[in-house]
Amino acid sequence: MNIYETDLLLNQYLLFHYGTAEDQLPYSFGPQDALFYPSRCISDFLPSIGRVSRALDLGCAVGRSTFELTRWADDVIGIDLSSQFIAAAQAMQEAGEVQIRILEEGQRSTAVTRRLDPQIDRSKCRFFVGDALQVSPEFGTFDLILAANLIDRVPRPAELLREIKRLVRADGHVILASPYTWLEEFTPSESWLAHRTVRTLNRIQEILEPDLALVSAKDLPFLIREHARKYQWSVAQASLWRKR
Ligand SMILES: C[S@@+](CC[C@H](N)C(=O)[O-])C[C@H]1O[C@@H](n2cnc3c(N)ncnc32)[C@H](O)[C@@H]1O
Repeated sequence: MNIYETDLLLNQYLLFHYGTAEDQLPYSFGPQDALFYPSRCISDFLPSIGRVSRALDLGCAVGRSTFELTRWADDVIGIDLSSQFIAAAQAMQEAGEVQIRILEEGQRSTAVTRRLDPQIDRSKCRFFVGDALQVSPEFGTFDLILAANLIDRVPRPAELLREIKRLVRADGHVILASPYTWLEEFTPSESWLAHRTVRTLNRIQEILEPDLALVSAKDLPFLIREHARKYQWSVAQASLWRKR
């Protein structure tokens, strides 16, 4: 079973992408700086890159980073393997708002409607169901590619990196962000990019160089609410790369 096709994960990701601070963390204590990760993946990097023509969000889920990219790019594509995530992103694109069922405990949940910032030009993006390991050549190439929390969710991460290398234009940028949670459930251990003595970032660098150069790397915390009293707090490593 693909967990990303379940109702539970759909609402968890809608909340992660579109919930208010209060929806996501209803306490006065807790890691407030871990909220709004899908927006921060863009806002922490794009000011230093500037405006671009075409951008791609691989593993876009329900689409928040894709919409955020439209502030910086004229043509933005979001691709995800989950048809229900893409349907939710397209529904947000159509209506500019979405219904989220926020899980409180057991079968008790709260339904809210949350709106996308009206300043976002939703007509600038398109969403597709597809495999990030095999992006159709019809999509062309991109000035900017984001892959957030994807590399440790695919069966062949090295293949994802090679595909990204192919898809990015000369002088274009790539943002890779991930907590590197390597799990057999998604990636056979022989394909993990971390080994006994090798860190994931170093292995990524080996695969991307010499075509892409590492510009910078930083820690990006994020919080996923499971229910009112249980949260996943993670720290992604976000790295920025430039194609030579
Ligand atoms: C951990 S979620 C991260 C989603 C989003 N980028 C974020 O940061 O919230 C991983 C996403 O990758 C998608 N995914 C997994 N394998 C994929 C593949 N081969 N191609 C495209 N998307 C994939 C899943 O459906 C899911 O939406």
